[in-house]
Amino acid sequence: MRVLVLHGPNLNLLGSRQPEIYGTTTLAEIDRQLAARGAELEVAVHAVQSNSEGGLIDAIQGAQGTEDGLVINPAAYSHTSLAVRDALLAVRLPAVEVHLSNPAAREEFRHLDLAAGACLGVVAGFGPRGYLIALEQLVLHLRSELPG
Ligand code: DQA
Repeated sequence: MRVLVLHGPNLNLLGSRQPEIYGTTTLAEIDRQLAARGAELEVAVHAVQSNSEGGLIDAIQGAQGTEDGLVINPAAYSHTSLAVRDALLAVRLPAVEVHLSNPAAREEFRHLDLAAGACLGVVAGFGPRGYLIALEQLVLHLRSELPG
């Protein structure tokens, strides 16, 4: 089983970016934790970060036929990008959305989440642990769908 983790804009700055909101864990550390949990679950996990909307869309499209599911933090594009939502719907891969912070408890412009309706569910507000929860839930979903 293969899972692609997609990180949106500015998440490459985790560790130093607004630590009071996003904590001090770096993206490399999150990716290491995901790969380690993946190994325990016997799932190949790899991660891609893009600061551009097109980069995210290309990665979502590229996952079709090669990946079994997606964990995605579209970052600010969650709130603005119909194109990311459409890409998720187009590839028909199960996806779990994750946010480090809880956008619902922040500014009103973060309350709209266009990606959420294209995903199985959303994990938000639990920091880096949210990525591991998202991976575990995606794998449970994928395994429950497999024949036998
Ligand atoms: C975020 C929340 C978004 O509102 C914000 O634009 C981000 C990060 C999060 O993980 O908490 O860049 O997706």
